[in-house]
Amino acid sequence: SRPRIVLHPDFRVGPVDRRLFGSFVEHLGRAVYTGIHEPGHETADEHGFRRDVADLTRELGVSVVRYPGGNFVSNYIWEDGVGPVEDRKPFLDLAWRTVEPNVIGTDEFLQWAEREGIEPMMAVNLGTRGVEAAAALVEYCNGEAGTRWADLRIANGRAEPYKVKLWCLGNEMDGPWQIGHKDAHEYGKLARNAGHAMKLVDPSIELVACGSSSMGMPTFGEWEQTVLSYTYDLVDHISMHAYYEELDGDRASFLGSGTAMDRFIDRVVASADAVGAKRRSDKKITISFDEWNVWYLQSRFPGEQNLPIQKDAPRIIEDVYSGLDAVVVGDLLVTLLNHADRVPVACLAQLVNVIAPIMTEPGGEAWRQPTFHPFATTARLARGEALDVRVSAPVITTSAHGDVPAVTAAATLSDDGVALFLTNRSAEPVEVELAHAGAALALAEGWVMTADHEPAVAGPEHAAKVAAAHWGTYDVAGLVSGEGVTTVRLAPESWTA
Ligand code: AHR
Repeated sequence: SRPRIVLHPDFRVGPVDRRLFGSFVEHLGRAVYTGIHEPGHETADEHGFRRDVADLTRELGVSVVRYPGGNFVSNYIWEDGVGPVEDRKPFLDLAWRTVEPNVIGTDEFLQWAEREGIEPMMAVNLGTRGVEAAAALVEYCNGEAGTRWADLRIANGRAEPYKVKLWCLGNEMDGPWQIGHKDAHEYGKLARNAGHAMKLVDPSIELVACGSSSMGMPTFGEWEQTVLSYTYDLVDHISMHAYYEELDGDRASFLGSGTAMDRFIDRVVASADAVGAKRRSDKKITISFDEWNVWYLQSRFPGEQNLPIQKDAPRIIEDVYSGLDAVVVGDLLVTLLNHADRVPVACLAQLVNVIAPIMTEPGGEAWRQPTFHPFATTARLARGEALDVRVSAPVITTSAHGDVPAVTAAATLSDDGVALFLTNRSAEPVEVELAHAGAALALAEGWVMTADHEPAVAGPEHAAKVAAAHWGTYDVAGLVSGEGVTTVRLAPESWTA
């Protein structure tokens, strides 16, 4: 039977927070050095930041950028990255076994974000450090003149507080790979104590407690409940991280990744709400999905312990993406939009060079990977409120996720009209019956990403070839729209806006 989608302006999920279209810059590989920053590059500005990368970041529509990690933050000494650059010492980052030159630190990053109109999201080190360093960093960033750390910032040339609002209480502290890994009770207490002190410095900040590093962690569920039992009244969000990849050629499961993400969100919401219910609390904890993407982690990454100690911005996890990966990224965004009521913050991990939509060559060009297109288009078109879209579609049975819908959809409604995002996960073209309130639709614009079967090849030429063959406009003229019903044709294995 034909998939059917029902849209009605009265059925709503909630407002789409712009922070849903965030990204992430970690001191990892070439994300910072030769990524956002490369003095001497022909497009570098007076601060040494690449204009070409900043322009692509704007085009991507990124709202928030998380910094400085990731695993990196769990052994970072932020004080080493501030003050006169010539006095800063290189430091051996154990997370990625890389010599960090400390040329870019808190001030350089926050000022770059400010110039580019990006909201920063800072993470504090709860791996090797604790309450004092975390509170000091909040004071350094947000404090008014007259106390030690705020005065240090002023002495370093920045009078105005940065007013950083979003703060992560560590990173993936449930993961044994994390420097200073903790069990849920240890972390819960530390997060509560650090968060308490940070909010005493600046009560206006929003705090993110670490949730599980993935749904596959053995402590998943228990971790969320224990951590929130210590932090429920203090924090605003709990984090989620998820990476998806095609394993052993199982294309159907990979194309169903959005359903796995959907279930993961439902389970974290249920875990958080269970803690709230027990406390008879009216407060709702929301989700900061601050790392998500396609990452060939299991199939291509050797593991950080197997990396040699390197310096000078080594190439680490520079995954090259295909049209298929881009369709999955588009579908993951469909899932995020459908949870707009509980997921106000999300970060595509990462922004440049490291599992990223933007790639650069040192001294050379910057280009868009195929995954750039669905992200930029969703960030541009998804405005106003997410609608509660009802989808009836046949299922595809996958080995990794069981039954998943063959068609997924999300929609937003704003003064500009309706934006509709659809994925066809099946290998056949599909005609979808779209039931909507009111008269025929006037289609303003349409975009399609289709999956490819070719292995992704590094470099701008291949990325341009994939875009030419698999990314383009939707045939608006071919759309049949009548009173209350519109027929939408979806290409096989495609994402359509
Ligand atoms: O984004 C790459 C890494 O993935 C991050 O450093 C870590 O938080 C996660 O495991």
